[in-house]
Amino acid sequence: MDNTLFENVDKYIGDLLAVEDSALKKTIQSISDNDIPSISVSANQGKFLHIMALLCHANRILELGTLAGYSTIWMARALPVNGKLVTVEFNEQHAKVAQKNIDGAGLTARIELRVGKAADILAKMIADKEEAFDMIFIDADKPPYAEYFGYALSLAKPGTLIICDNVIRDGKILDKNSTDENVKGAQRFNKMLSQNAKVTATIVATVGVKEFDGMAIAVVK
Ligand code: SAH
Ligand code: DHB
Ligand code: MG
Repeated sequence: MDNTLFENVDKYIGDLLAVEDSALKKTIQSISDNDIPSISVSANQGKFLHIMALLCHANRILELGTLAGYSTIWMARALPVNGKLVTVEFNEQHAKVAQKNIDGAGLTARIELRVGKAADILAKMIADKEEAFDMIFIDADKPPYAEYFGYALSLAKPGTLIICDNVIRDGKILDKNSTDENVKGAQRFNKMLSQNAKVTATIVATVGVKEFDGMAIAVVK
């Protein structure tokens, strides 16, 4: 499918409503400068996450999968001054670049970057009885999404918003015979979501400068 129209419209919306300041521009630049994969959310998706954080009056946000800190910065900018965002990244190079970008955005005090595997860090947070989060953004490796969601529920409270990126994967989730572990992870996650009585959820499909994909949006009952 020709994506040009979707890309152009996405750029049009972005130029109007998701304008990147120098900190966000530098974050995108740091991704190519350091040969990091270009898989951060788009500017419009960053603004979307920002608005979601404002809507749930988030004081505490948890993110799985920091990359270079692009989505992190968009969300943290919706926090009140005493708010906190914890972001989890297991790749040390990504974490190093992200910390620099977070510092460059003036968000050092508001963002805590924890380096390690998401499953380990989540299990520790639960064992330590950390305070519940108001918003949780799941965007790390795709195969264990269903497990990450289970952990997220243990760190949530009624009203917590849980958003999960990349659950449509260019429509490949329709292929029941897919052998792609990322697709299978999304399929397993989406089915679990549909059967999970603890949340009410939908999936918003997205087109634009990134591939055709979707974000699951769940509210804890
Ligand atoms: N949220 C970012 C993009 C994240 S890309 C943005 O939109 O700007 C996914 C990130 O998850 C990568 O940096 C990858 O290194 C990290 N990751 C992959 N597996 C992980 C795991 N098991 N635990 C923690 N982070 C992981
Ligand atoms: C991939 C990961 C992402 O978080 C994303 O937004 C796009 C692609 C990936 O691992 O392929
Ligand atoms: Mg993603």
